[in-house]
Amino acid sequence: MQEQEPIRSKQPGALRGLSGKVLLLTIIFVMLGEILIFLPSIANFRIQWLKGRIAQAEIAALAAEAAPDQILSSDLRSEILMGAGVLVVSLEKGKSRKLALRSDGDFMIDASFDLRDTKWYDAITDAFGAMLTGEARVIGVMDKPPNMSGDLIEIALYEEPLREAMFRYGINILLLSIFLSLLVAGLIFAALNWVLVKPMQRLTRNMVEFGQNPEDLSRIIKPGARRDEIGIAERELHGMQSELASMLQQKNHLAAVGLGVSKVSHDLRNMLTSAQLISDRLSNVEDPTVQRFAPKLISSLDRAIEFLSQTLKFGRAQELPPKRERLELRALAEEVIETSVIKASSRIRIFNTVKPGVLVDADREHLIRVLTNLSRNAIQALEFLQAERGDTPDGAIMLEARREGSVTVIEVRDNGPGIPAQVRESLFQAFQSAARQGGTGLGLAIAAELVRAHGGDIHLQSSTEAGTCFVITIPDQVTQLRAGRVADRKVSFKA
Ligand SMILES: Nc1ncnc2c1ncn2[C@@H]1O[C@H](COP(=O)(O)OP(=O)(O)OP(=O)(O)O)[C@@H](O)[C@H]1O
Ligand SMILES: [Mg+2]
Repeated sequence: MQEQEPIRSKQPGALRGLSGKVLLLTIIFVMLGEILIFLPSIANFRIQWLKGRIAQAEIAALAAEAAPDQILSSDLRSEILMGAGVLVVSLEKGKSRKLALRSDGDFMIDASFDLRDTKWYDAITDAFGAMLTGEARVIGVMDKPPNMSGDLIEIALYEEPLREAMFRYGINILLLSIFLSLLVAGLIFAALNWVLVKPMQRLTRNMVEFGQNPEDLSRIIKPGARRDEIGIAERELHGMQSELASMLQQKNHLAAVGLGVSKVSHDLRNMLTSAQLISDRLSNVEDPTVQRFAPKLISSLDRAIEFLSQTLKFGRAQELPPKRERLELRALAEEVIETSVIKASSRIRIFNTVKPGVLVDADREHLIRVLTNLSRNAIQALEFLQAERGDTPDGAIMLEARREGSVTVIEVRDNGPGIPAQVRESLFQAFQSAARQGGTGLGLAIAAELVRAHGGDIHLQSSTEAGTCFVITIPDQVTQLRAGRVADRKVSFKA
């Protein structure tokens, strides 16, 4: 197997880390909130300011009415108008409309506004209109008189003082907003930092450190007492790291044991080979007792040597990554059957029911080994059954296959005795599944390893007294494309 270089991560810099992002986002969102509050408040400020002017103008108009004969000197009139900050005041009572006060000089009303039923969106656009207009406008304003001196009061005034007041108010609000957003952002940042960012940093730092030396037990995270998601993540990580560390330890031990076993197997095989050579000569001895026992001795030695060779091969085996190609499965199954049939008894038939045209994306040699292992197991089980009980029907083994989307599904069935219950649990583990006499217990372990290297799976679909069925799934290889072409990445060939 080719080792893949693990991807290691460094701790991010201040601004790229979670803290920096949280700080930036809180400032942006609080500012956004302040802008949303600013719009209605500046609109409201303008309306209240104008209503103030209307109230003053009404009082001025009432004062003018109270003058003897309602005649005012021009000086007094302009003083009253200036005090109220307006140019013209007119009052409407019932049907009659009266110009209560008017300053000297000519002016034109550039825009007029009715405060009696202003919609909120109009109020906002009017406020922005007042602030952004470049000209010095005279505006007319209508409203209900606040002191009930009539049905309608209408005034005209210069807009400039209003605009200045609005800018002063806006700047105050802006300064307040900046102060508030910094304060709120700071508070939210501190809270999030404490609740989320710091524990996340602790987790990531621990992961990085643990990744550098997973065998060091002191690097396993010590989970805190938190009950939230971070607490769960810490505890899960603790569990995973503990398991990984102990698995690594176990693996090291097993590797050492495996090395020992390989050496023993190697020497033992050499000794047995010598014994085999000697025992071969025994068949020439004519003594009937020797003639009876010599073949058994020789076949026992053969099995022992075969067993040791298999063990050595497995210990050394470094499977290369599969060299995948599109294969016509029917022809491949035929090849497997031809080599297996030679070894099978005449009472066993192997059927190739794979439909022509079914393709599989796999390494040819690997797939042949997998299918040979499975059919050989079936042959051995059937032969064993037939040797034990003569009355069994003829053995049948079937190789079937189909395409399911981008996956090739292969089935190997037989009408044999089924797999003994005690080996079913550890069927795909090396050396642990041999229930058959003379079996090493490696065939299925190797088959599973080869299939998984293709990203596929092998499992026992059913196994009863009426037969056994193994199912192999092999997905098509995902075509590697250049990074960035996300849309095309799932390309696979179709059968
Ligand atoms: N089709 C089958 N029918 C009945 N039993 C089976 C079948 N396939 C596997 N087994 C059982 O599962 C066991 C494990 O099979 P596996 O191929 O892993 O090892 P093995 O055949 O014993 O040894 P090896 O294949 O390494 O020579 C077998 O010993 C056998 O008892
Ligand atoms: Mg086998």
